[in-house]
Amino acid sequence: MKKQKIGLVFGGKSPEHEVSIISARNIYAAINREKFEVTLIGIAQDGKWYLESEENLLDKHCVIGTNAVQIAVVFGNEHQKFIRLDNATYLENMDVIFPITHGPNGEDGTLQGIFLQLDIPFVGPSVLGSAVAMDKDFTKRILRDAGIGHAEGITFHKHQLPSISYDAVVRQLGDILFIKPCNMGSSVGVSRATNETEFHTALQEAFKFDTKILIEKAVIGRELECAVLGNERIEASTVGEIVMEKGFYDFENKYVNDNAKITIPATNITDNQLAKIQDTARKAYFALGLEGLSRIDVFLTEADEVIINEPNTLPGFTSISMYPKLWEASGLNYSDLISKLIQLAIERHQRDSQLQRVRIS
Ligand SMILES: Nc1ncnc2c1ncn2[C@@H]1O[C@H](COP(=O)(O)OP(=O)(O)O)[C@@H](O)[C@H]1O
Ligand SMILES: [Mg+2]
Repeated sequence: MKKQKIGLVFGGKSPEHEVSIISARNIYAAINREKFEVTLIGIAQDGKWYLESEENLLDKHCVIGTNAVQIAVVFGNEHQKFIRLDNATYLENMDVIFPITHGPNGEDGTLQGIFLQLDIPFVGPSVLGSAVAMDKDFTKRILRDAGIGHAEGITFHKHQLPSISYDAVVRQLGDILFIKPCNMGSSVGVSRATNETEFHTALQEAFKFDTKILIEKAVIGRELECAVLGNERIEASTVGEIVMEKGFYDFENKYVNDNAKITIPATNITDNQLAKIQDTARKAYFALGLEGLSRIDVFLTEADEVIINEPNTLPGFTSISMYPKLWEASGLNYSDLISKLIQLAIERHQRDSQLQRVRIS
């Protein structure tokens, strides 16, 4: 059987650049080489695209673009879609793009729009789902409209900063608050504030990363994550739990220290609770227009309410990442998961290619 050619895209202009490189390394190691041939495409911090080497990707200190050939995309061609800037030759045709870029410029629809314009199948949600799910404010609006549980919150734009009143916020949301940039990930810019000083520091921190921020009421409950995949037929995995020794699941607890204990599958969870989380995760996925894959993060309250924290449309694939582990625990191994995600990308592209693009009178 002819091998399919996969373009693995990683890095990106995002504070989650390094996390993306680690994700790509893991996918590269797990992808089935009998079925797929991989071309590595790295996007540097400055936004330049490079044809990357295996050697650089596997280097612990990988800096994208080191001794690599810069490439550019070419719109409109049936096959010759990527060109080397050193000798103006085209890269070999790729059948599917697997972007494993996290955060702004990678997970927010902007990159997805390029692949749509190139008319090349790509893994993960398309433009609208990616953009909506990246924006915690718009996510909340959609969930509210769909009657799906979400944390109560207030959105502010940067120009409104002088008029944000701590007392007014506390009156509406209580005095344990989470403040976050609307478009970010990996807990970058997210703070918990329980007094006015922390509140103002948190606002400054969140506005460093976005012009729009969200202040949320703290949800008291267990923090659980569910892996979802599919286009029309949406499947939900078992759930995993995050338990913090101290603090919340901030950047340090996620990637730097050992304070976060991850249990997969979560224990002490009833069949009803599991079914309710899976059902809510599938409903949220559908309501948000997601396709391909997403990790849906939720809180489970004492009263068994399922509150969506957030969707992650290109979740981490690092060695400690929940998404692939949740599928593994649900009977789908890492390599088969990657094959399945590639298959879903092809199916969506075939489906959408049937749409009429010209008006025939
Ligand atoms: N409303 C909330 N109530 C309780 N904990 C929260 C709330 N919002 C965020 N958190 C905590 O902060 C972490 C990061 O917030 P999250 O919204 O998931 O941002 P990111 O997109 O950066 O991962 C969560 O995993 C959770 O531990
Ligand atoms: Mg999160």
